[in-house]
Amino acid sequence: MNPLTLEAASIKEFNQDDAPLGLFAFEGNGVAAPFLSSKTKKEINAELSDAGFKGNPGEKAAFRASDGNRSRRFIVIGLGGKKGFTADCQRKAASALYNAARKGKETMWISIPGDRQAAVEGFLLSAHTDPRYKEPCKDTKLQSVKVITQSAGEKKKTAAAIERAGLFSEAVCWTRDLVNEAPSDQSPERLTQTAKKYISDGVTLKIIDKKQAAKLGMGSYLSVARGSDAPPYFLHFIYKPKGKAKKKIGLVGKGVTFDSGGLSLKPAGSMETMKCDMAGAATVFGVMRVLSRLKVKAEVHGITPLTYNMPGPDATKPGDIVRASNGKTIEILNTDAEGRLILADALVYASKLKFDVIMDLATLTGAAVVALGNDVTAAMTNDKSALQKLLASSKKTQEMVWELPLVKGYKKQIKSKVANIKNIGNRGEAGTITAGLFLEEFVDAKSWIHLDIAGPAWTDGGQAYCPPGGTGAMVRTLLEYLSAL
Ligand code: BES
Ligand code: MG
Ligand code: ZN
Repeated sequence: MNPLTLEAASIKEFNQDDAPLGLFAFEGNGVAAPFLSSKTKKEINAELSDAGFKGNPGEKAAFRASDGNRSRRFIVIGLGGKKGFTADCQRKAASALYNAARKGKETMWISIPGDRQAAVEGFLLSAHTDPRYKEPCKDTKLQSVKVITQSAGEKKKTAAAIERAGLFSEAVCWTRDLVNEAPSDQSPERLTQTAKKYISDGVTLKIIDKKQAAKLGMGSYLSVARGSDAPPYFLHFIYKPKGKAKKKIGLVGKGVTFDSGGLSLKPAGSMETMKCDMAGAATVFGVMRVLSRLKVKAEVHGITPLTYNMPGPDATKPGDIVRASNGKTIEILNTDAEGRLILADALVYASKLKFDVIMDLATLTGAAVVALGNDVTAAMTNDKSALQKLLASSKKTQEMVWELPLVKGYKKQIKSKVANIKNIGNRGEAGTITAGLFLEEFVDAKSWIHLDIAGPAWTDGGQAYCPPGGTGAMVRTLLEYLSAL
């Protein structure tokens, strides 16, 4: 739920209204607000200097000053230095402004010196609340933000940026909400119903149930579902743009609605956040939801195998050998390496659909968190030029992505004595890469990108415009990527 709306408005309207004005200031530069009188600016700068305001990132100052013949409340947020200023600095500063103004008045004005879309995202991503399990802060009053524009052209551009930011934020926040849902409330069946309800806009959905999955030979995927009474659902969304699509993209998302580890049970601590193990699928859902409103020109398919990973009576046992839908046999030595098992069949399925690019997103390995921490997605690919395009989009959104090499020599780690492949490599040795190499065995496509989001998909806190829990990482980057095609 987003209690906040933003709109572009003219300077004339601003001059007739006495709601507070939020401004941004670069280090050592004072506020950038050409539309204010020099008298008002002087007063503002005097207030800032009295407060010892430097313009450091996120620094805040709030005061009253005269504006024409009225007194107005001003809230100023620092942007940091002009050198190294990015759209994300603007996004973070907007988030700081939202937090500084949230308890004040119902309406406020802002003037945006940097990237408009990023600023609006900063507001919307911070304002989003999820009332399902805990009442949101009752002291929030701010509902409407008006962005000052100085010409008809600027107003039009601003309105477009607001619309785009609204769609990006809607997708991110929905992904967060899906991840945050309590795992027992969100069986594969429930998740399927939710997806069906919200992703309708120009998108069709094929639901593959357990019986059909068995018919398709998805023995690897189904081996994970065996430990739970809740039936698995394999979803296939299809978005077709109006007119002829230039590109056909497949997005595959890991949808483990809770990862207990199965019989290779996780220790209690490691299990605490494992409702986030469907974040890959939730990312795909978030993206699919807004494609038609974003007018994406590519044909985009979302493929999400959903299942619990539980140690129920019929659970897969270490030593079991299963056959995936491409005929390859897999020796399962650790039932906690389940993500690659469900993705194996999803990637075989995707490969048959002849995409220009297949991208998978998965909270796949703890090793990715060890290697790159919580802020960086690990990428692996069989097509460097395809990855370059995604990296260019991630530069724009400032969601960090770093390539790891699919080292051929490490393939021997997943050789099995009894099957075509085994589902774990050597302990403590490039676990993210060996997982990527495992997936590659099930890809039959020229361009495939694997994104291990185990770190970025979840936060325990300390993020600028994201509360603790699911983050919606990579949703904005994928939307940026898809809308650039
Ligand atoms: N879902 C986990 C990976 C994970 C770990 C995601 C931490 C988010 C945060 C995955 O299914 C898993 O358990 N992987 C194992 C693989 C191992 C058994 C080879 C791991 O990383 O320990
Ligand atoms: Mg696991
Ligand atoms: Zn998992």
